[in-house]
Amino acid sequence: MPSVLPADFARLGDEVARLCDAGVDRIQWDVMDGVFVPNLTFGPGIIASARQYSTVGFEAHLMVVDPDELLGRYVEAGCELVIVHAEACTHLHRTLARIRDLGARSGVSLNPHTPADVVEHVLPVTDLVLAMTVNPGFGGQKYIASVEPKVSRLRRMIDESGLAIELEVDGGITDETIAGAAAAGADVFISGSWMYNYAGGKAAAVERLREVAREAAGVGAPAAEDAEDAEVVLS
Ligand code: DX5
Repeated sequence: MPSVLPADFARLGDEVARLCDAGVDRIQWDVMDGVFVPNLTFGPGIIASARQYSTVGFEAHLMVVDPDELLGRYVEAGCELVIVHAEACTHLHRTLARIRDLGARSGVSLNPHTPADVVEHVLPVTDLVLAMTVNPGFGGQKYIASVEPKVSRLRRMIDESGLAIELEVDGGITDETIAGAAAAGADVFISGSWMYNYAGGKAAAVERLREVAREAAGVGAPAAEDAEDAEVVLS
């Protein structure tokens, strides 16, 4: 899945359409408020404007100090999945349940320093856990491999829960680093700068990431009948 962060913000509609043409599974909008992280990006109006150009779902990664205030705005803007930071939520269980009440799927993100156990008691109201593999705020940063043991712990927690929860990683994902993340148990991968800069173009970048992730996770190429499942697993 691409992050829109490296896109040409003056042509977001075209950029979104081109990402869909490249065969991505979903598109992630990195929402930043300039306080939780030292950067400022997309309001709900921008995402709502881009919605008509996309044939795939949107997810909003809210890197903001007060996500409760903004949840409804991003669901209304067309985000089918809303991710909040555990570090920004005093009542994380209530916030995640509220995202579902609003009709979207719920996600919780953990900064590199935040332990996996923080999500132990909210898994029943969670559809996705995001383990950040960079310190949030900017694209183009170096992958933090020391997060991988946390990814493995989250994978065990999710598997033991028996719940259908996606495990996503975000930050510094390339056709090299994705192998470690997939082997650790991640099944959803966000790529920004590497995908945008890939010499073979975005479609080839998407396929390359899927190929490396499948191999590292010991997942074969999907047979025709279950190709969709494989896409969901490795989106
Ligand atoms: C950080 C952002 C980035 C972005 C991906 O706050 O969340 O991780 O999505 O950017 P790259 O792939 O360039 O690290």
